Amino acid sequence: MGNSTQQRQFWDRIAARYAARPLKNVAAYEAMLSDITGRLRPDDHVLELGCGTGGTAIRLAPRVAHWTACDFSSAMIGIAQAKPAGNNLRFVVADVGKALASSPCDLVCAINLLHLVDDLPATLAQIHAHLPPGGHLIIKIWCFADVTWRIRAIFSTLAVFRLFPAIRKLRHSDVLDALHHAGFEVVVEKVFGDYPQNPYFVLRKAATPAD
Ligand SMILES: C[S@@+](CC[C@H](N)C(=O)[O-])C[C@H]1O[C@@H](n2cnc3c(N)ncnc32)[C@H](O)[C@@H]1O
Repeated sequence: MGNSTQQRQFWDRIAARYAARPLKNVAAYEAMLSDITGRLRPDDHVLELGCGTGGTAIRLAPRVAHWTACDFSSAMIGIAQAKPAGNNLRFVVADVGKALASSPCDLVCAINLLHLVDDLPATLAQIHAHLPPGGHLIIKIWCFADVTWRIRAIFSTLAVFRLFPAIRKLRHSDVLDALHHAGFEVVVEKVFGDYPQNPYFVLRKAATPAD
């Protein structure tokens, strides 16, 4: 069984529990939503990758022309689709590659997803190619190599027993290198919440090659 199939099965299995869990830090989540909201334009077409059970999409879609929210877990998307939402929001079962092969957008959003993908540089290159010049990518990502070794050991052990997803052990410097190498400029880096190892970035694809 492939790594990606195992990952998808993990998220399918925990989708109901994930949906039921209370947000750990409501104020931090609201502050992040408010930062994203301030960057959205009414005519934007947004593609969200790894949308989970759709909470962020449902909150933010009313601010833009169209929001496509994708996740490779059909259980996550099933829960998202059962929630009330506006007509300009579409939930799709799709992995990152398939989602990025779909229609163009002005902005890509990937909250707590990119530390889970097999090949971060390749995924960032795909996102960069998908965006128009001047387009934005908004991410929150775990720099798991920067958490204490005790926490890393606990979660690595849980992952062996499939009680936690397989997470790439990225350092903050790995993330910055991968973003720059893909061609993204960092517009903003902030931390929403209690973990500096889980930064939020707003990134921009240069408007022209020399920009
Ligand atoms: C940590 S959850 C984050 C969900 C949501 N973005 C949030 O912030 O609540 C990660 C989500 O990414 C999805 N996911 C993981 N790898 C993926 C991939 N390669 N393609 C699409 N979705 C993926 C999982 O199914 C899961 O719903």
